[in-house]
Amino acid sequence: MFLINFYYMKNKDTLFSAIQPTGNITIGHYLGILKLWKSLQNNYNCLYCIANLHSLSIFNKKNIINLNIYNLVSFILASNINPYKCIIFLQSDIIEHLKLYWILNCYTYIGELNRMTQFKHKSKGKFNNNLSLLSYPVLMASDILLYDSKYVCIGYDQIQHIELVNNISKRFNKRYKSEIFTYPKFIMHEQFYKIMSLLNYEKKMSKSDINKNNVIFLLDKIELIKYKINNCITDNDNPPKIIFDIKNKPGISNLLNILSGIKNVTIKSLEEYFEKCNYKKFKDILSKELCYFIKKLQKKFYFYRKDENLIKNILLNGKKKLKNIAKNKIKYVNNILKYEF
Ligand code: TRP
Repeated sequence: MFLINFYYMKNKDTLFSAIQPTGNITIGHYLGILKLWKSLQNNYNCLYCIANLHSLSIFNKKNIINLNIYNLVSFILASNINPYKCIIFLQSDIIEHLKLYWILNCYTYIGELNRMTQFKHKSKGKFNNNLSLLSYPVLMASDILLYDSKYVCIGYDQIQHIELVNNISKRFNKRYKSEIFTYPKFIMHEQFYKIMSLLNYEKKMSKSDINKNNVIFLLDKIELIKYKINNCITDNDNPPKIIFDIKNKPGISNLLNILSGIKNVTIKSLEEYFEKCNYKKFKDILSKELCYFIKKLQKKFYFYRKDENLIKNILLNGKKKLKNIAKNKIKYVNNILKYEF
């Protein structure tokens, strides 16, 4: 495939986002991030990054990460994200991420990293934690600030990290009395930012869940998806009501969210449609729609997945487009710091 040049449009703001290639991606990723990536691609200079360096922080089987990179790019393409409009690239292809990462480490307090909920959560109860688990948000800061990004598209669990990025940026700018880095604002999907687990509606759906029945993976066999929906928890109010009420009916609300996302219809119209329906019937319809949706997505996924040259080309293009921008930013920062790096 031949990729036309992507013009870094002056009149559009830069938006950065990334997903880690740590494994099989879920319906939560699709609704919360990939769907949002697609809808943003016309309005911003979108930089969509495969954050493979982040994946090393907890997981270092390099060959598996490589396979996951192909999978992730295939899912990005299957979600109708257009490589002619956005820059899709691999984090480790641009070494400047690591250069800026080190510089920013020198402007980050251990105390503020220690306060990150995700760090507390992931390090809890473990005896030996890697330093990378702690400094992981600094690498996020370098991803974002390297390209002067004004916006960052994230899921719910990354909000605190973006606040930290702003603090690092402010600290640096203040010290050198200049606007060197941006203050990125986050964009989150207003409806799908938090898809919950199927068997525990207090927990976000997560690819690393040990109970796989909590999660719909996009590569799950269709029969398995049927099984998971059939066995998921609804609510136990009587008479059953299919209405959206996160507080009192978290189970049904989560399922309504999923259905609304895959069908592109409003929650309100679903509530009307299911007005006289019981939970069993609702689940049957959801299961049918979800299976249909995922089957279609998988078909597109395999279409791209078998073409590894295409994927390599897309990533190579991304690298070519960003390399100079990243180099220039490091040059600029070095100039401020008065040393070569
Ligand atoms: N840490 C993010 C996640 O696991 C992925 C990520 C890496 C990211 N760098 C980023 C997200 C920069 C936004 C901006 O979801």
